[in-house]
Amino acid sequence: MNKAKHKLRWLAVNVCRIVLAVTFVFSGFVKIVDPKGTQYKFVDYIQAFGWEAWVPEFVPLALAISLAVFEFCVGINMFFGMRRRFTSWLYLLFMLVMTPLTLYLWLTNPVEDCGCFGDAITLTHAETFIKNIVLLLMSWVVFRYFRLMTRFISERNQWTISLYSIVFGLILACVSLYRLPVFDFRPYHVGADLKAAMEIPEGLEGPVYETTFVMEKDGVREEFTLEDYPDDTWTFIESKTKMVSEGFIPEIHDFSIILTPEGEDITMNVLADTSYTFLLIAPHLEEADDSNVDRINELYDYCVEHQYAFYCLTASGDEMIETWKELEGADYPFAIADDITLKTIVRSNPGLVLLKNGVVYNKWSCNTLPTSDQLNAPLEQSLMGRLQLDSRLMVTLRVLLWFLIPLRLVVFADRIWVGSKLYKRMKHRKKINNLLKTRKMRKKIVAGNWKMNLNLQEGVALATELNEALTADKPNCDVVICTPFIHLASVANVLDTNIIGLGAENCADKEQGAYTGEVSAAMVKSSGAQYVILAHSARRAYYGETAEILKEKVNLALANGLKVIFCIGEVLEEREAEKQNEVVKEQLAGSLFDLTTEQFSNIILAYEPVWAIGTGKTATAEQAEEMHAFIRATIAEQFGAEAAENVSILYGGSCKPSNAKEIFAKPNVDGGLIGGAALKCADFKGIIDAWKA
Ligand code: 13P
Repeated sequence: MNKAKHKLRWLAVNVCRIVLAVTFVFSGFVKIVDPKGTQYKFVDYIQAFGWEAWVPEFVPLALAISLAVFEFCVGINMFFGMRRRFTSWLYLLFMLVMTPLTLYLWLTNPVEDCGCFGDAITLTHAETFIKNIVLLLMSWVVFRYFRLMTRFISERNQWTISLYSIVFGLILACVSLYRLPVFDFRPYHVGADLKAAMEIPEGLEGPVYETTFVMEKDGVREEFTLEDYPDDTWTFIESKTKMVSEGFIPEIHDFSIILTPEGEDITMNVLADTSYTFLLIAPHLEEADDSNVDRINELYDYCVEHQYAFYCLTASGDEMIETWKELEGADYPFAIADDITLKTIVRSNPGLVLLKNGVVYNKWSCNTLPTSDQLNAPLEQSLMGRLQLDSRLMVTLRVLLWFLIPLRLVVFADRIWVGSKLYKRMKHRKKINNLLKTRKMRKKIVAGNWKMNLNLQEGVALATELNEALTADKPNCDVVICTPFIHLASVANVLDTNIIGLGAENCADKEQGAYTGEVSAAMVKSSGAQYVILAHSARRAYYGETAEILKEKVNLALANGLKVIFCIGEVLEEREAEKQNEVVKEQLAGSLFDLTTEQFSNIILAYEPVWAIGTGKTATAEQAEEMHAFIRATIAEQFGAEAAENVSILYGGSCKPSNAKEIFAKPNVDGGLIGGAALKCADFKGIIDAWKA
């Protein structure tokens, strides 16, 4: 893969990741600041699907908070590039579930707007479906190439950010529930002029609504309109408002206040009142929180004293109103309004709204109602009577600061931590560089030997994964993978040869001809490979490869432009008999000592004590160093000091990420030839990274 293509892929992944992150943080945040709004939406869905009977009452609110915090937290994870594999998988899964679901909602339309961005942005089901298709595609791109996501926080400290965003989300949701939403995106926000929001511009026709009232007398229920509203021998049960003809729909179109039991529409009187009006909003009195009812009664007395209007707006029936009056000692007048409108006006049951001239001056939840101290002076002279207008910008800044200041502190602490690690790494690197100076230009190499493992598809997948991992995080050494013959050509196609070299595990000792089943060095070279492993202990032991045969193979490989990774090493009995040096020297001499110095410059040696191969038993770093020093001395005797200084000698035998660093730190060990651990990208990369820190 060329560099331009890689850069383009990186750009695509990171653009998609930022779009996904911002979308999720936003949609989570607008739900967190208004958990009741999301709760109502869940209730709407539950009712539309007819599930009320078996969904416990606490579920909609619990679902609302969980969904909001989940979206916010995974958005933050995606933004910082934390737990990249898991986060991208979560996104994909979420979008795979949500996209067909929104298609279903579009087709069946059980609830008007989908609610995915709370009240901040209202989308139709069709718009939501299209949005989800785009997000699904982006999630797939990010999931497919998650390794290309740039991290903005160290891997080690990412849990602090995750935990912090969960805690922040939960606290903000609780504050918004206890008080009122921190952001009010509804048309009844503080500062809103309700009269203006209800107006229909000149020349346009408004929609026509009809409100009907269900009344009961002597056990008989009948529906009435405002025109034929019955006398007070009838008991009010409920009201229904429906649109009878469409037209220009103003922002507020379903706000009406009908005094009960008179049935008088006082909407315009209330909105036109130039003095103050308190509206106690209780969509359902039977569910209203009555823990602060004394404060409400006190407030009503205050209103009577100062001649301010006070109404309790509810959608409950007359019977419930009477019960409330009796139980709570309520002397204030009651008026009927639409249940959904009341829930939209204030997210508390009961909640309190202060109006003046049709403008919303202030709002309180049932937990923050005015106290006796605040009711000492008339509103005209008190702070409470002033328009409590906090600009959206100021609220946004305040909330952002609440979130960002602690977040910055966490990130700052993380950067200091990373800085100190970097400093230590630089010191270590300096040490390695000094070591390298003594090793002259010798190459550090980590080579994988897949042996007879992995089918073609698995092999190509592993090579692709490794290529991506090393493209994203460049190695500090030469990396080679040696694969079975049939993998070579396909693997060559997925590797960036600037980063990973390719080799075969063997080649024939004949140039060409009727050698059925054999693969020549020229064929290996033609597949795109640059290396070949020869003399592996498995080939010596199971296929009778003698020093003579190996000599032929080495010559043919070199003649065809391949670099040879030549293996040497003693079996257990030889080590126990302390004959390892003798054995290794014989193996070198038997197959390599006829080469010229020039030919020898294309040889890489791999010391693989047979007793350590695939046994989990590693030679100690000291044993490896001792043997490598001996091999180098032997090469120096035969080919001269310079050739000995330049030849890379790899160690092989149960090398793992956990022991590689210690072994590679030895001055005569120039890397590893890896078997089992080369079959997993993470393990192999772990060994490659041993050259880094
Ligand atoms: P293991 O790493 O599985 O011990 O194999 C070493 C080896 O034989 C590499 O050629």
